[in-house]
Amino acid sequence: MAWEVLKEVVATRYVTPLREGGSLPGLVEADDLGTYVLKFTGAGQGRKTLVAEVVCGELARRLGLRVPRLVTVDLDPVLGLGEPDQQVQELLKASGGINLGMDFLSGALGFDPLAFEVSAEEAGRVVWFDALVNNVDRSWRNPNLLWWRGEVWLVDHGATMIWHHNWPGAETSAARPYDTSDHALARFTPDIRAAAAALAPLVTEELLAEVTAEIPDVWLLGEPGFATPDDLRRAYAEPLLARAATIHERVKGDR
Ligand SMILES: Nc1ncnc2c1ncn2[C@@H]1O[C@H](COP(=O)(O)OP(=O)(O)OP(=O)(O)O)[C@@H](O)[C@H]1O
Ligand SMILES: [Mg+2]
Repeated sequence: MAWEVLKEVVATRYVTPLREGGSLPGLVEADDLGTYVLKFTGAGQGRKTLVAEVVCGELARRLGLRVPRLVTVDLDPVLGLGEPDQQVQELLKASGGINLGMDFLSGALGFDPLAFEVSAEEAGRVVWFDALVNNVDRSWRNPNLLWWRGEVWLVDHGATMIWHHNWPGAETSAARPYDTSDHALARFTPDIRAAAAALAPLVTEELLAEVTAEIPDVWLLGEPGFATPDDLRRAYAEPLLARAATIHERVKGDR
């Protein structure tokens, strides 16, 4: 079956680095006249971060959560030549080829759990999703949530699926519980049980095949133990499929 792949755009101008962000994401303009937040393949965190962004972002979207649209951005390192900032120039030079872009939500505010209100139902869906993908980067200190046009949007899924850093131990790692005590939405009494009942049945082998098909092949090549990108795609799907049914029973936290 021919699945959809991410739209590909070509970067035409590097605009500026984002103020925050450990991996130094930048803003770029592209040949479709769009403005994108660019996550670089040449960043220290490596391309697995980008794979995680695609898998989690595209899965979350299919589960009805709000995630900025993802694209692949073809980057000519020549764009970096005029950059005065040495670090930015190095990053652009090291990131020729396919990078990850996401729609820039202009005017979005960083989510502040004390300033904005989220329903227990919606908080439950976000926390359940984060438990599913083992997201360790949605704490109240660093929520990686944006408030845009009166709604919550999910960004930054780079620190998820810790098992993809050690495939031989993936099954054991994915069997572990998920701790919600630090979660940015913990104070909204997330209804995790209701979220599990609604969302877990949607996480099927077929859905995960569709999601993992969106990972560009070039980010999957050369992983030890995997002969083809599709073998690795199946390895990404497996722990998520296994966790979906029962992860709500292994959620630990204050509440
Ligand atoms: N699509 C977007 N639209 C608008 N702002 C965004 C978008 N994506 C990210 N940002 C802003 O840029 C910041 C950094 O992005 P992100 O968290 O994805 O980068 P990072 O390098 O992985 O961050 P860190 O490792 O510091 O958490 C976000 O906290 C947010 O304020
Ligand atoms: Mg972040």
